[in-house]
Amino acid sequence: MSRVPAARAQSRVVPATLDDAIVGRRSIRRYRPDAVPDALLHEILDLARHAPTSMDGQPCHFVVIRDRAACARLAAIKVRHCPEDKKAFPCDFLADAPVVVAVCVDRERSHDRGVENGVLATAFLLLAAASRGLGGVYLSAHRDGDPGLAADIAALLALPAHVDPIALVPLGYPTTAPVPKALRPLEEIVHDEVFDRAIRAGGRHAP
Ligand SMILES: Cc1cc2nc3c(=O)[nH]c(=O)nc-3n(C[C@H](O)[C@H](O)[C@H](O)COP(=O)(O)O)c2cc1C
Repeated sequence: MSRVPAARAQSRVVPATLDDAIVGRRSIRRYRPDAVPDALLHEILDLARHAPTSMDGQPCHFVVIRDRAACARLAAIKVRHCPEDKKAFPCDFLADAPVVVAVCVDRERSHDRGVENGVLATAFLLLAAASRGLGGVYLSAHRDGDPGLAADIAALLALPAHVDPIALVPLGYPTTAPVPKALRPLEEIVHDEVFDRAIRAGGRHAP
C-alpha cells in the first residue's frame, strides 16, 4: 500500500529534490496573478506539518487567506507596524500575493516553545513551496516590543486567545526566476570542535 497521503498525490506537480529546493529557494516578493491550486497548497501544508515540534506537541495551525480584502488588510497591518529602520522595505507586496498562509501556534500545545515551533514549520512550508515552483517569503507576525502586531493579525484572523500568529507567508508563482544566492564561505562559519578553528575542505582542522 502506498504511504503517500492522498493530498500529496493530487497536484501532479513533480517536486524538486530536497537539495534543489534548499539551494534554489529564494525570498520571492513579486507574484504572477495566477491562483495557487487548492490541491497544491494542501500538499504544501501537509508537508509543513511534518516539522519537528517540542515534545511532539504539534501546535501549528495554518490559516489560508485568499480573500483580496483580507490580504490587503494584512499588508496594511504589516506596514503600520513596520519599525523605523525597515520602512524602506515595506511588506505592501502581501496584498498582491494570490494566497497568504498565516502560521500560528497553539500556546497550550507549545511547551513554551511557540516561536521555535512556528518558525520551523514555516521553514518546512517555504521549502515545500520552493520544491513545487512556488515563491514565498518569511514575514514575522509578532515582534518583541510591539505586541500590537500579533494582536492586530490575531483579530483579523479571529484567532482564539490561546493561538498566536508567528509568521505570514505570501505564496505565488514568481514573476522572474530566482537568482542564485551569494553565500558566506563555508570555512567562515564552520568550526572544528571549538570556535575559530578551521576545518580543511574534506579533512581535519588546519594546524
Ligand atoms: C526572521 C525573518 C524575518 C524576515 N522579515 C522580512 C520582512 O519583514 N520583509 C521581507 O521582505 N523579508 C523578510 N525576510 C526575508 C529575508 O529578507 C530573506 O530571507 C533574506 O534577505 C535572505 O534572502 P533569501 O530568503 O532569498 O535567501 C525575513 C526573514 C526572516 C528569517
